[in-house]
Amino acid sequence: MSDNHTHVQEFFTARAADWDSRFPDDGPTYAAAVAELGLREGDRVLDAGCGTGRALPPLRAAVGASGIVVGADLTWAMLEAAVRAGRDQKGLLMLADVGALPLVSGSFDAVFAAGLIAHLPHPSENLRELRRVVRPGSTLALFHPIGRAALAARQGRQITPDDLRAEPNLRSLLSRSGWRMTSYVDEDARFLALAVRED
Ligand SMILES: C[S@@+](CC[C@H](N)C(=O)[O-])C[C@H]1O[C@@H](n2cnc3c(N)ncnc32)[C@H](O)[C@@H]1O
Repeated sequence: MSDNHTHVQEFFTARAADWDSRFPDDGPTYAAAVAELGLREGDRVLDAGCGTGRALPPLRAAVGASGIVVGADLTWAMLEAAVRAGRDQKGLLMLADVGALPLVSGSFDAVFAAGLIAHLPHPSENLRELRRVVRPGSTLALFHPIGRAALAARQGRQITPDDLRAEPNLRSLLSRSGWRMTSYVDEDARFLALAVRED
């Protein structure tokens, strides 16, 4: 277990119990972001860094009973909170590092990742691992239910040009990782970048 992983687990373990109650109004924003993945009945979708599973209900609704929904997270306490909220009824929950997924290559049609990328120790390698588990042509959604500027203001800091999620930086990072960015929205109420797996 790396120092980064231990830090992530400590950080989110401390916040797991009241994670959902801190952001009670985010549900529709998650549903709208999931809608942009273009999922179809029967599709297989991975929620990378699923946390308490807030995206699992709209993901399940999008793929239907015949689809497959898997939520993977590094922090046991977040997954426990997901179970307490009944989200294990919506998908299979897995304790796993998105940088080394115990999943077969090409086994998913899409990846949804909310609030994940800023926590990754090796973003390019980790995005490559997400690419590995989807089939060519699959879509990746990097989502946050708050825009970069609004998040920075909430945290009492300023956005700098080297921000990983600044449009040119993210486009380049995705490209180096085998993804082509197809859309980018950064407004107060949401951040959503979509990318397609290059062959
Ligand atoms: C900001 S929270 C977002 C949780 C959830 N996606 C949501 O939108 O409510 C980030 C989550 O990513 C998880 N995470 C961070 N690094 C990870 C990694 N390498 N592998 C799997 N999960 C990771 C954390 O444990 C945490 O639950």
